[in-house]
Amino acid sequence: MQKILFLLIVFPIVQVQTLFAQEQIPHLQKVGDEQQLIVSGKPFLILGGELGNSTATSMESMEPVWPRLNSLNLNTILVPVYWELLEPKEGEFQYKLVEDLIIEARKHDLKLIFLWFGAWKNSMSSHAPAWVKLDQQRFPRAKSESGESQEILTPFSEETLEAEINAYRHLMRHIKGVDAGHQTVILMQPENEIGMLPSARDHSRLANRKFKEEVPADLIQYFQKNKSELNPEFLEVWKKNGFKTEGNWAEVFGKGLHTDEIFMAYYFAKYTNQISAAGKEEYALPTFVNAALNRPDVKPGDYPSAGPLPHILDVWKAASPEIDFYAPDFYNPRFKHWNDLYVRQDNPLFVPEHRFDNTVAAKALYTIGHYEALGFSPFSIEQIPGEPLSHKEKKLAKVYKVIDQIKPLLDKYRGQGKIEGVLLDKEVSEAKFVLGDYEFTAEHTFNLGWEPDAASEEWEPSGAIIIQTGENEFYFAGFGVSLKMKNLKDKSGRVGILKTDLGCFEDGQWKVYRHLNGDQTHQGRHIRSFVDDVSIQRFELYKYD
Ligand code: DGJ
Repeated sequence: MQKILFLLIVFPIVQVQTLFAQEQIPHLQKVGDEQQLIVSGKPFLILGGELGNSTATSMESMEPVWPRLNSLNLNTILVPVYWELLEPKEGEFQYKLVEDLIIEARKHDLKLIFLWFGAWKNSMSSHAPAWVKLDQQRFPRAKSESGESQEILTPFSEETLEAEINAYRHLMRHIKGVDAGHQTVILMQPENEIGMLPSARDHSRLANRKFKEEVPADLIQYFQKNKSELNPEFLEVWKKNGFKTEGNWAEVFGKGLHTDEIFMAYYFAKYTNQISAAGKEEYALPTFVNAALNRPDVKPGDYPSAGPLPHILDVWKAASPEIDFYAPDFYNPRFKHWNDLYVRQDNPLFVPEHRFDNTVAAKALYTIGHYEALGFSPFSIEQIPGEPLSHKEKKLAKVYKVIDQIKPLLDKYRGQGKIEGVLLDKEVSEAKFVLGDYEFTAEHTFNLGWEPDAASEEWEPSGAIIIQTGENEFYFAGFGVSLKMKNLKDKSGRVGILKTDLGCFEDGQWKVYRHLNGDQTHQGRHIRSFVDDVSIQRFELYKYD
């Protein structure tokens, strides 16, 4: 109250309203070593799922989907907004679909992350409105090295940028109007999986002209200023050509496809940054862009070149300060490898897309535990409405439920080195980590050999989050993981389990459901939860001589 009175004296009422409104906009906040998404003034963890590309094109199509989304225990869905449907005729905006989605999401207790399918979706410009597609003079196409026009709008056209900014501004203004007071929409993703195909760079007339120009000073200055922080693979490229600070693209970075990609990344990032900045002027929701990950030994252009990929993320960061973070989409293996690359330079991790396979439940636990991520989201989450939930869907629903229950602990201990996550499978069935004085060895419970599926060819991946809540007190949430402990402060390292309870959080209160001992802890030798049991356990440890 005192704060309000003080503000009223200092600022007129309208300004105070604006101040509060700004304070309330979803935003990222640094907590300890990590970032956190704040929605309606509270930490928010995205337990998400992304809809298939065409599902949200009408409310009829969405009708059977809503209950399905609720049965998966999601709190957020990632949903496209299509430029072609928002502005089917130039200057005439159709907001009904967006508005209905917001209203229905609210009814179903879901938050929304809108994916703006604007100039680019998976490299292509398929979601541009017909009036854009048909006027190729005004909205020119990108060209391949051999001079062939692509179904890709060139990012070098001022007309295209202006037209798209206008559409995106209208969208953000409208979202603000209908949602600022509710905060159903919590994040925006301008564009989707940007990338140049089938050449590493655009070879249109506009692009070629830019390619011959000097590398822009702002880019060079960013590299100079942040030289000690640049990602090593990018630094190596710049170093190889003598850390040049003047010249055209080929002169500064050397001739080759890598330079084509750097050039293209700069202009894709610059374009997307302007979309994001214009949208934020209307309604400053945080924004992120996602990347189609490349495969080793594939050349740029054979994979979508110049997206926000780790090896050129420095270029993206230099040219897109209005984008809050960059995110990997997973349809490739090497989950840990890619995530490790994305969390460099303080980039908060969010996995907006992961193929909806039987690894997602374990990976959600790992991502949120190990990386203290903003959230996780399998792609094509709605699958087949009407059918009973499959094994992987039930598993994800159970995992999301337990993560939601331990969320107050995740919020409390975030960024303090007290949270860990494990992801285990047949190939990597053991992992070690340290929390406080304890070294933990986590193993896939199939290593114990007691579960029937332990003998099978394929192992379902398992995962867990472990949180240290006291010197000797921990919570475990997950499945298919056993934990053995060693005390690092004590020479013998001998550790016993004083107490293990299986339980749940109800209204934030820990409720014990069962006391675990005997076979359930292998007579005090380990903490464990079998692959079929997604559980929360609270345990206390002690050392003995
Ligand atoms: C990645 C894209 O971002 C999604 O929109 C979708 O097309 C998936 N690939 C694959 O279906």
